[in-house]
Amino acid sequence: MTAFALPQITARIESPVASAVRKGLGSRPRRLPPWLFYDADGSRLFDQITRLPEYYLTRTEREILAVSSAWIIAKAARSDADDADGNKPVQLRITELGAGSADKTRLLLKAAVERQGTVLYEPVDLSPTALEAARARIEREIPAVRVAPRVTDYTRGLDLMPAATGERRLVVYLGSSIGNFDPRQAARLLRGIRAPLAPGDTLLLGVDLVKDEPTLLAAYNDAAAVTARFNLNLLARLNRELGADFDLGAFAHRALWNPTHSRIEMHLESLTTQRVRLASLDLEVGFSEGERIHTENSYKYAPGQAEDLLTAAGFTPDSTWTDARGWFAVCLGRAE
Ligand code: AVJ
Repeated sequence: MTAFALPQITARIESPVASAVRKGLGSRPRRLPPWLFYDADGSRLFDQITRLPEYYLTRTEREILAVSSAWIIAKAARSDADDADGNKPVQLRITELGAGSADKTRLLLKAAVERQGTVLYEPVDLSPTALEAARARIEREIPAVRVAPRVTDYTRGLDLMPAATGERRLVVYLGSSIGNFDPRQAARLLRGIRAPLAPGDTLLLGVDLVKDEPTLLAAYNDAAAVTARFNLNLLARLNRELGADFDLGAFAHRALWNPTHSRIEMHLESLTTQRVRLASLDLEVGFSEGERIHTENSYKYAPGQAEDLLTAAGFTPDSTWTDARGWFAVCLGRAE
């Protein structure tokens, strides 16, 4: 028998949270990535945000889907190619990125059940608990839907099982989640979604549209200050998970409209000159009064921009649905 001397591994591998925080707080301007918002408390707070009177996004997208789900499903299930060879019936499989609570998706699933009897629903999310909640809810409320959850970080590319013959995929990416990504990242993300799809498969993309500044600002500066708690929870999370000593009273929530980049920005502003220690990172960070940590971008699209993004990623824009005020858009693109 031969004995191998294994090299001693000395470098500790950091958790994704630890390395993102080390990198973000080590750069100037200081920043933290928005995916850090969504621990258990943050996910609960986001759920509250979606019900705020000022946060029109969720409500408006739901309204669009309530009106147009049947039409969307019909478009996704039928392409010009089918019309040419006599409208072959197609079985849709619905893949949802960032499943969340799957609340709005129910409308699409119900429309698909109406059309084809049963549906295979594949929610894709980083969080197994979010996926389990979505599965439980959907199976209870729409028994004709079979749920096959997948734990994956779809921002790193989407590896999907090939759809069966006679089956076509509808990938849904709702809620303006794409809004967290700058135009280059968004294009890369959509190309990653396109890659595993077959010609005729479709992507349904929900984007928030540019509108008057007071409406945009109010959605991120709600009177009940839930968004402020959501933003500050990020620091509370670092206190809990990284043994940091952020004083939550010494930072303030700021949301502003950046017209140059067409985005809402969220920041956490230091109200004093202070030092913060992050014990598990063995790191100390100094903040001057007024210095900000940039925590989120939320891009707002001009009409036609989402369609251009789809085109650049290898989709042909098929249809766009919007609300009466033109505040939010849901766009269907077909893989060619
Ligand atoms: C989940 C990224 C769509 O940008 O509106 C809500 C997150 N941030 N309030 C958004 C969020 C502050 C939300 N997205």
